[in-house]
Amino acid sequence: MALRWCLRGLALGRAIGSSSSRLQLQQSTNNALFSARSLPQALQWWRSRADAPLPPSSPLPLIHLPPPDESKHRGSAEGDPLTFSAFSSSIDEVEVAKFAAIADTWWDSEGPFKPLHSMNPTRLSFIRSALCRHFGRDPNCAKPLEGLKIVDVGCGGGILSEPLARMGAVVTGIDAVEKNIKIANLHAELDPVTSSIEYRCATAEKMAEEEQTFDAVISLEVIEHVSDPAGFCKSLGDLAVPDGAIVISTINRTIRSYAVTIVAAEYILGWLPKGTHQWSSFVTPEELVLIMQRASISVQEMAGFVYNPLTGEWSLSDDTSVNYVACGIKRNP
Ligand SMILES: C[S@@+](CC[C@H](N)C(=O)[O-])C[C@H]1O[C@@H](n2cnc3c(N)ncnc32)[C@H](O)[C@@H]1O
Repeated sequence: MALRWCLRGLALGRAIGSSSSRLQLQQSTNNALFSARSLPQALQWWRSRADAPLPPSSPLPLIHLPPPDESKHRGSAEGDPLTFSAFSSSIDEVEVAKFAAIADTWWDSEGPFKPLHSMNPTRLSFIRSALCRHFGRDPNCAKPLEGLKIVDVGCGGGILSEPLARMGAVVTGIDAVEKNIKIANLHAELDPVTSSIEYRCATAEKMAEEEQTFDAVISLEVIEHVSDPAGFCKSLGDLAVPDGAIVISTINRTIRSYAVTIVAAEYILGWLPKGTHQWSSFVTPEELVLIMQRASISVQEMAGFVYNPLTGEWSLSDDTSVNYVACGIKRNP
C-alpha cells in the first residue's frame, strides 16, 4: 500500500520531468532554488514585519444555504451542485465533490476548515508582507493593499478573500464549486467592506481564456487538489499582469506531511474528513519551483507554515516539510 502511494507521488515528479533526465531535473531545480531569495534571508525580512497589525477579523456566523430551487435548476448544468465539467481541465471531479459535500461548514471555525481558519493570520501576514514589498506599499498602514486587483483562485467560502478586501484590495474570488461561491457571497454581504468582492464559479483557465488579468494571483491549498498541477500553474501565471505577483501554498510530499496531515489531522484529531488529502498529490517545493518557472514565474520567496500543538498557533518557519508557501513574479513576455 505504502509503495503504491510512493509510486503515485513520484508520478508528478516524473510527469514534470518527462522531457529531461533525472539529473537535469535536479540541476535545474537546484538552480531555481538558488536564484530564489534564500530562505533565511526571506524569513528574516518577513519576521521583521510579522508584528504589523492584521485587519480586524470578521465575526464568523455560520452560513447555511436555503434548499435548492428545483424548478430553477432542473434540466440545467446548474442542477449539479458542482457545475464545473463544461469548462475546465484543471478540475479533479473527485476532489471538488469532497469540497461540495462540506461547503456549508466554511465559516465554522471549529469545523472541517478549522486548520485553514487557524492558519489564516499567518498566511495573511506572509501575503501582506510579500505584496507590500513587491508593490512598494507600507505594510503597517490600515489598507496596505489599497487598489490592488487580486484574484483568489479556489477561494472556497471566502475566508482569505474577505481579509484581503479589508486590506483594501479589489478582490475577485473564484472556485470550481458553485455551492462555495453561494456561501462566499452570502457571508461577504454581511459586511459593506466585503460586499464589494466579486465571486464567480469559474476556474483559472476559464478566466485566462477570457484574458482577465490581475496585479496579484493567490491560490492557497488548491494545487494539490487539481488534476494537472503544471497546467493549473500556467493558468495562474496567465492571470497575472507582467511583473504581477503569484502566491501559491500547498503541502510538501514527505513522510512527515503524511503523518501530520493525514494520520493526525484526518484519523487521530478528526479535524478533516477522512480522505480529504491524497498524499501522492502533494507537491514538493522543488516541483513547485520548477512548474512555476515553466509558467514564466520567478520564485522570490518561500516559507514554511509550522503548527505548534501546545499553543494551537501557526508561525512562519524555514521548515517547509509540511505546509509551505511560495511567492513569485510573472516575468515579462
Ligand atoms: C483546501 S480548499 C482551499 C480554499 C481556500 N483557497 C483557502 O485556502 O482558504 C480548496 C478549494 O479549491 C477549490 N478547487 C479545487 N479544484 C479547483 C479548480 N480546478 N479550480 C478552482 N477551484 C478549485 C475547491 O472547491 C476548494 O474550495
